[in-house]
Amino acid sequence: MDSADARRTFGGGIAVITGAGAGIGAGLARHAHRLGMTVVLVDVDERAVTKLRDELVADGGTAHVEVCDVRDPDALVALAERVYSDIGPVRLLVNNAGVEQFGYLWDTPVANWNRVMDINVSGVFHGVRAFLPKMITAGTPAWVWNLSSIGGVAAVPLQAPYIVSKHAVLALTECLRLEVELAGHGDLIRVQAVLPGAVKSNIFEAAGGVEDGDDRAAESQREAMLDIKAAAMDPVEAAEVVFEQADRGDFYLLTQPDYVSSAMADRATVLTTRVPPQLRTAQRFDPDKH
Ligand SMILES: NC(=O)c1ccc[n+]([C@@H]2O[C@H](COP(=O)([O-])OP(=O)(O)OC[C@H]3O[C@@H](n4cnc5c(N)ncnc54)[C@H](O)[C@@H]3O)[C@@H](O)[C@H]2O)c1
Repeated sequence: MDSADARRTFGGGIAVITGAGAGIGAGLARHAHRLGMTVVLVDVDERAVTKLRDELVADGGTAHVEVCDVRDPDALVALAERVYSDIGPVRLLVNNAGVEQFGYLWDTPVANWNRVMDINVSGVFHGVRAFLPKMITAGTPAWVWNLSSIGGVAAVPLQAPYIVSKHAVLALTECLRLEVELAGHGDLIRVQAVLPGAVKSNIFEAAGGVEDGDDRAAESQREAMLDIKAAAMDPVEAAEVVFEQADRGDFYLLTQPDYVSSAMADRATVLTTRVPPQLRTAQRFDPDKH
C-alpha cells in the first residue's frame, strides 16, 4: 500500500494516541512516526511508553511520554492543556486504550464490568471532551479516531461487557460525526471509527476473568481468543491500512476490510431479517464439559 498520500496529510502533524504502550496503539504510533508525525504516547504503563519513546527518538523521531489513565476526565483535560501549550495543535487523536473481559455476564465481578465501561467507553468520551474544543478553536484540520471493533457489529457470548463497550463506541462515534457536522465543523474535523479484526496485541492476556462462577467457561474463551491471536495481523500493517483509509476519507476504518465488512453485512442481515442471534456450532452447550 502506498503511504505517500497519508504522509502528505499527516506528516509534520501531532498524533496523541491513548493505550500506545502495546498492540494496536503502539503500531499506530510506529506508523505515525514513519509518516513524519510527532507522537504523544499516552498510557498507564509508563515503562512500555518510555521504551517506545526511546525507540522512536533513536530512529530520528519526536515522541513524548504521557502517563495518564483515560478513566480520569481531569487527567485528560490536563493532558490536552499540556499538549496544546507545550507541543502544538493536535492533528490526530486516537482514543485507543481498551481492555477485554471473559466469562458469563452473570459471573462478571462488578469491578470488572466497571473497568471495561470506564476505560473502553468513558475513556473515549473523556478524550473527545478534552480535545475536541481545542481542535475546533485551533481551526486547522484534525482527525479523531475511536477504537470500536469487529465486535462492535457482532454478538459474542462470554465477552458481553467488551462487546457492549464496542457497540457503544461505534454509536458514540457515529453520533459525534453527526454532531461535528451539525455544528458546522465537518470540513475541519474528521471523525472516524476504527474496526479492527484480529490484530496481535496483549489484550487477551490483560483481560479480566471471573472469580466466582464458571471460571472454566471464561478461561476457555480466553484460550480460544489466544488461538486466534496466533494468526492475527501485525499492528504496524494494521496501522498502514487504517491511515490509508482515513486519508481517503472513509468513515469506517477496517484493518481487514473483507473480514470486517462480512461481519457488518451479517449484522445488517440480522437486523433486517430479525433472526435472533445464533450460536456457532462449536459454541453449543455440551453437558460433558459442564
Ligand atoms: N487486538 C485486537 O485484535 C483488537 C480487535 C478489535 C479492537 N481492538 C481494540 O483496539 C484497542 C487496543 O487494543 P489492543 O488489542 O492493542 O490492546 P493491548 O492490551 O495490547 O494494549 C492496550 C494498551 O492500553 C493501555 N491501557 C489500559 N488501560 C488504560 C487506561 N485506563 N488508560 C490508559 N491506557 C490504558 C494498556 O496499558 C496497553 O498498553 C482496544 O480499544 C481494543 O478494544 C483490538
